[in-house]
Amino acid sequence: MISKYIRNNALFVILVIVLLLLLVKIAMDHFGDASTTEHYVGLSKVDRFVDMMEKKYTKVDRDAKTVTQCIKKKNYQGSAEERDMYGLPKIESEDTNCQTISYKYHFNKEDAIKLVKDKIATSQLLMDAGLPVPKFFKFVFGPTMDNIMIQEKLLEQMNQAGITFPIVLKQIYGTFGIDVFTHIKDIEMAGKTLEEMRNKGYKEVMCEEQIEGHCYRIFVFNGQIMDVIRRSAPFVVGDGVNTIRSLIDMRNKRQLEKKLFETKNVTESFIADQGYKMDDILPKGRNVTISTVINMHNGADIERIPLGSIPEINRNIFIQANQVLGIKCSGIDFLSPDITKSYKENNGRILEINGTPDTEIHTIVSEQSGDNFDIYAKIAANVF
Ligand SMILES: Nc1ncnc2c1ncn2[C@@H]1O[C@H](COP(=O)(O)OP(=O)(O)O)[C@@H](O)[C@H]1O
Ligand SMILES: [Mg+2]
Repeated sequence: MISKYIRNNALFVILVIVLLLLLVKIAMDHFGDASTTEHYVGLSKVDRFVDMMEKKYTKVDRDAKTVTQCIKKKNYQGSAEERDMYGLPKIESEDTNCQTISYKYHFNKEDAIKLVKDKIATSQLLMDAGLPVPKFFKFVFGPTMDNIMIQEKLLEQMNQAGITFPIVLKQIYGTFGIDVFTHIKDIEMAGKTLEEMRNKGYKEVMCEEQIEGHCYRIFVFNGQIMDVIRRSAPFVVGDGVNTIRSLIDMRNKRQLEKKLFETKNVTESFIADQGYKMDDILPKGRNVTISTVINMHNGADIERIPLGSIPEINRNIFIQANQVLGIKCSGIDFLSPDITKSYKENNGRILEINGTPDTEIHTIVSEQSGDNFDIYAKIAANVF
């Protein structure tokens, strides 16, 4: 009876240990990934993409997430006449050269992904390489600073960096536009925003000059520009009947019908800057921008820009940015009033580099426009 009790208990303990080990493994797999990647549609998870590589290259190892290409190289052994002359054998010998690369993190090294997550380190490296970035600096909260001191320090640093209002304040390691505050037009608003960020737990933040224009997404892979999408700030047009609030609701409904995203992050202060409150009836034909967070997941208007329309001077800075940062695959955020004009003419600036760029924006634009562009096919064709 006792031995049976012990045996049953021992079995139970073993079962619990096995279960615990399993849980730890699942957690480690999960967090091991999360430390270097984001919540995005990762290339390695797109079966269609991996299938394409499998068709094109020598071998794909789906578990190790590597792709191998072997090329047979003929060794030159002279022309037919030379071979006859020197009595060389008729058969040419062949060498096989194989190259294997990992596609686990969008073909990037983990170090490169970590580097570009740091917006300050990234901007500094790009600036040092002579590439155009917004003027910026790091603002560090002192442990005993009151709001007056915060404001004074910010003004002093802005002065040193040659930055004037409006400015942008944002977290250094952010994504998805979370805790990015744009259109800060005076020191009171800046002081309030910094206070808010400090209360959220930030010890340091990034301050940037504000750049005007659309926020373009440039997908660069293996030294080539694969695709460029223009993201424009969402806006509503007045009909003289509806309030801004209901116009936004109506726009959100249309977006959902088109399988696009709603604008959930509405910037009421920016609407106020344009002279309106949420419950004002918008006069017929009047445009009002409803958010300063320009990304697809916040309902931005998205459109593909033909690569041929982008001047070489702009194309070069995107390719160079990847070289400088040692990154093979990236999604570059570029702010410009018009990407088809040189950045030198219209103050275009590289905002940030995403090391695990979303591919969804490229496929959604294809679905919406009905063109046959396939980002996965283009990447798969250019892996080596
Ligand atoms: N210096 C800036 N000037 C103008 N708009 C900016 C600036 N910095 C950020 N933004 C706006 O905020 C959005 C998110 O900023 P970004 O630096 O790309 O952070 P995230 O990593 O969260 O995407 C950008 O797409 C752009 O619309
Ligand atoms: Mg961004």
